Amino acid sequence: SRRPSIYYRPINPNDLDRLEQIHRDIFPIKYESEFFQSVVNGVGIVSWAAVDRNRPGGYSDELIGFVTAKFVLAKESEIDDLICYGSSQGEETLIYILTLGVVETYRNHGIAMSLISGVIRYASGLSLCRGVYLHVIAYNNPAIRLYNRLMFRCVRRLNGFYLIKRQHFDAFLFVYFVKGS
Ligand code: ACO
Repeated sequence: SRRPSIYYRPINPNDLDRLEQIHRDIFPIKYESEFFQSVVNGVGIVSWAAVDRNRPGGYSDELIGFVTAKFVLAKESEIDDLICYGSSQGEETLIYILTLGVVETYRNHGIAMSLISGVIRYASGLSLCRGVYLHVIAYNNPAIRLYNRLMFRCVRRLNGFYLIKRQHFDAFLFVYFVKGS
């Protein structure tokens, strides 16, 4: 089989069906169609896709991984207490990662690592952005290892944060602070 050639690009409206399908396949939580519309149209959401340019059968531009995120005002976020405010009059922002996923056959190649590094690089280039944060379900060890490896800090354990099939699960809140904030 051919060697994958992973390429990163923005998500666009042609990705809609595939994006919905992967979310359905890999997340225990249901996302509404408004969410996917916002992602593919870039309405209030920033996102990146990974594709395999060597994927045969006309699939060389089909999503095999993605990360979606949104901007949050730092002072309105749940980590308001962890932010050092400067002279920007409360205009500081954070990027909140909504979803991250890589299809199973493409895992363990560093694709998630590259996607999250891209988010960090993007955040670091924004003068008012203080960091990147996210929630992860407490039993998701592959994701937790990834965030630890990328120097995110686990700042909280939230009791019963997720409700899945009438069962509560804890979440960890991970933060990556940019520019020494
Ligand atoms: N060769 C061999 N191993 C490698 C290579 C390589 N070239 N590159 C990375 N690896 C290893 C890493 O060291 C890591 O090892 P570890 O798990 O033993 O620590 C492992 O591969 C995974 O790292 P990545 O390849 O960067 O991650 P991957 O692309 O496999 O995606 C993810 C990880 C996103 C968690 C994936 O498992 C997934 O989609 N899971 C289901 C959805 C999910 O849980 N998403 C995150 C939820 S949290 C949120 O969305 C905010």
